[in-house]
Amino acid sequence: SQPLRIGLAGLGTVGASVLKILQRQENALAARCGRAIRVVAVSARDRKRDRGIDLGGFTWFDDPVALAKSAEVDCVVELMGGSDGPAKAAVEAALSAGKHVVTANKALLAAHGVALAELAESNGVALAFEASSAGGIPVVKTLREALAGNNVSRISGILNGTCNYILSRMEQEGLTFEACLADAQRLGYAEADPTFDVEGFDTAHKLAILTSLSFGTKIDAEAIHVEGISAITPLDLRMADELGYRIKLLGVAERTKTGIEQRVHPTMVPKASAIAQVMGVLNAVSIDADAVREITLVGPGAGGDPTASAVVADIADVARGTAGLPFGLPVGRLEEPTRAPMQRHEGG
Ligand code: NDP
Ligand code: HSE
Repeated sequence: SQPLRIGLAGLGTVGASVLKILQRQENALAARCGRAIRVVAVSARDRKRDRGIDLGGFTWFDDPVALAKSAEVDCVVELMGGSDGPAKAAVEAALSAGKHVVTANKALLAAHGVALAELAESNGVALAFEASSAGGIPVVKTLREALAGNNVSRISGILNGTCNYILSRMEQEGLTFEACLADAQRLGYAEADPTFDVEGFDTAHKLAILTSLSFGTKIDAEAIHVEGISAITPLDLRMADELGYRIKLLGVAERTKTGIEQRVHPTMVPKASAIAQVMGVLNAVSIDADAVREITLVGPGAGGDPTASAVVADIADVARGTAGLPFGLPVGRLEEPTRAPMQRHEGG
């Protein structure tokens, strides 16, 4: 059968890792998918930047929208970032032209996910976004596929690797917030604008996507109460420690009697609890559902290779023709969400 021809828009932390994994796993992926996966075109801002990869064999596009429309591309992998601008334009152009899209861009999905899913559906193509939430943890596929027989009542967890990394190192090594954030940026964990991480917006973007998948509702990012970690001081962490607690930035969505409550805020968790053991760049997602009861997934929440692992899984789904509907059901069947007022909560 014909190879799946990939156009890769974005060659930064995640894009470069995706390219390397596709090269390293070329034969295994071809065997698993029943066809070859071939990157044919790439796009980034700086053509001259050394990325440690030979880009000689790919068609270079300065304009990601032109890449998205290129006749030589079957599937666009968007790894540029941003809720609007070139990422949105390229994804819309690709879907409109009948090309599959794989993206890790939670900001884009939180803002436009339903409209993009509609566009994918009407053009009969895939829109896959496993890497958009919790990095390498396969939480999107878990909610959409593995838990298809469940009613989910609550989803909660640590959804931002940068914040968990900062809080862990501040607590364990006594480092400053600024030093830890600088390391998270150097390691490729942080967003291009780290305000999204430390002010809780990135967690909120992921929570908005996971809430939709959990409850079969349209994305309602504006309903989320958001507080970040930028005001947390070493003294706060020491006080929490003396009382037997750790501070974690949690995202929580639950179905209440009055509707769906979504919130992101720093939370005191008992040091002996499972969530308190999740340190560094790790994320954890707990799902409460009627049949399976409770499951928790833990793994790397940010970084090039773990995120690329999820992107490549989506590319493999596209190659096999098993990508399915973006939110697991037709967009027309997604319910309008009812917002529940914020309750007072003692813990996570
Ligand atoms: P980077 O900033 O490292 O890379 C962004 C890439 O996009 C760069 O190669 C950049 O080009 C390219 N780019 C930006 N604007 C344009 C444009 N106008 N035209 C063409 N290319 C452009 O980001 P990441 O790899 O960290 O993140 C990519 C996406 O993945 C984002 O949506 C992010 O939120 C998401 N994500 C990131 C994770 C992580 O751990 N880093 C984890 C999960 C998701 P150039 O290199 O020339 O500057
Ligand atoms: N900046 C994000 C984080 C990347 O730190 O979790 C993964 O989505």
